[in-house]
Amino acid sequence: MKNPGVAVASASAPLCLVDPSMCAARTAVAVAVVVMALLAPALAASPEAPPGAASCSGCHASGAKVDTPVPRLAGRNAADVVAQMQAFKTGQKQSTVMDRIAKGFTDAEVEAIAAWYAQQK
Ligand code: HEC
Repeated sequence: MKNPGVAVASASAPLCLVDPSMCAARTAVAVAVVVMALLAPALAASPEAPPGAASCSGCHASGAKVDTPVPRLAGRNAADVVAQMQAFKTGQKQSTVMDRIAKGFTDAEVEAIAAWYAQQK
């Protein structure tokens, strides 16, 4: 079930033909299901995650205990993470992907994200 909302919406089509009032009700349910599916990953991370943190946590796990080949950020010193991001931006630090990613974030955003990661266990 990749997209439950679509399944619900298409299942309601025959009912719409019989009773048009069913269309609105079924569509509302379908929309609610889709919205919940979209919100679930965001809620799973942490409610206090600053803007942009979710774009990092796809690669850098938000928990320090997760086994991953990508360098750990969870529980790391925030100033160290900020300094590394600066080095990626300027090209001082070699990278495969982080130079491009770092350029997409302002210093304030990086500081907020680094502070958030520092608090993750
Ligand atoms: C596409 C996956 C990906 C995303 C998204 C990503 N990173 Fe990275 N990150 C990496 C990889 C891979 C490295 C290792 C360096 C390289 O090859 O670019 C790395 C390295 C780093 C390092 C250096 C860690 C060290 O100890 O050397 C920092 C700091 C960092 N990332 C921060 C971030 C932040 C902050 C974000 C979100 C704004 C982010 N990364 C998003 C994949 C990612």
